[in-house]
Amino acid sequence: MIKTILVTGGAGYIGSHTVKELLKKGYKVVVLDDLSKGRKEFIEKGALFVKGTLEDKLIIDKVFNDHAIDAVMHFSADSLVGESVENPSKYFKNNIINGIQLLDAMIKHDIKLFVFSSSAAVYGEPSKIPIFEEDITETTNPYGLTKFIFEEIMKSYDSAYGFKFISLRYFNAAGADISGEIGEAHNPETHLIPIVLQVALDQRKEVQIFGEDYSTKDGTCVRDYIHVTDLANAHILAIEALLNGKDSSIYNLGNGEGYSVKEVINIAREVTEKEIPSVNVGRRKGDPAVLIASSDKIIKELKWKPKFADLKLIIRTAWKWHQKNPKGF
Ligand code: UFG
Repeated sequence: MIKTILVTGGAGYIGSHTVKELLKKGYKVVVLDDLSKGRKEFIEKGALFVKGTLEDKLIIDKVFNDHAIDAVMHFSADSLVGESVENPSKYFKNNIINGIQLLDAMIKHDIKLFVFSSSAAVYGEPSKIPIFEEDITETTNPYGLTKFIFEEIMKSYDSAYGFKFISLRYFNAAGADISGEIGEAHNPETHLIPIVLQVALDQRKEVQIFGEDYSTKDGTCVRDYIHVTDLANAHILAIEALLNGKDSSIYNLGNGEGYSVKEVINIAREVTEKEIPSVNVGRRKGDPAVLIASSDKIIKELKWKPKFADLKLIIRTAWKWHQKNPKGF
């Protein structure tokens, strides 16, 4: 029987790419998004769209009354580390309180399968690389803390109500769907690859490098970039596993390879054939030096196979979209 998935935040960057893959696989999709950060034009034509916020219990209830939802994928959250340090209240309200409203509505409507967008931010400054799921979670900012707390909340809901969840701890999501129809557009943009491509498009003068004095190969921070479609497909595997009776679990999602900020800029220079000037402006608060995932667990247990692991390919897909959508949409 065709299953119906509620996708909160389905108009956002990772949510919209996942909706696209869900529809390709034949799922029915209902998107709930308040369009505060997501874009209406990112919502796939085949999906049903409900405009609304998780602050609004009535709208959540209405979605569950109007549609026979089998499982939920929860993307809608605030996700900027710096902003979370300045305004923790926003993060605790949106990422935790609103998230609990969603969980409680699910329990009320007897829907107990859930895929959650977590983050490498739960690990804080890791003491060893690569990072495994059972490593210490010592968050260093309110954003990471909200993701960690929510994972603990889901464990309690599992014990109390038999609620089954898969939490996916993303490393650095990047790239765009190969169709070039949807891509990465935040406002304001804070992520490295879109910023580098905005410089290539002459929309910014230079890339500001946040520190060259880390103990890494070239002094700049190292990250594990993962293509957004590979991330989306991990969500499909997760929902399928839950629908087939799998127990709750937590997985890292990265490619297991680290690239420095300077390496990212150099690869973008090759891909775009543009100069892309850069300047060191010193460290950004709260940036760990190196974040690299071990994704062995999801590869082994859910048979996840990344198709776009090569960073050059990731940047190529992003560049295709940025060229087509220089204004971000
Ligand atoms: N960077 C620059 N200049 C920029 C932007 C970024 O040098 O203009 C650097 C950052 O310092 C960092 C790297 O590029 O070392 C990647 O930065 P992003 O902002 O693109 O991504 P982050 O690694 O900071 O953030 C990602 C996710 C967050 C998550 C975090 C976990 O986007 O949601 O990983 O630490 F919380």
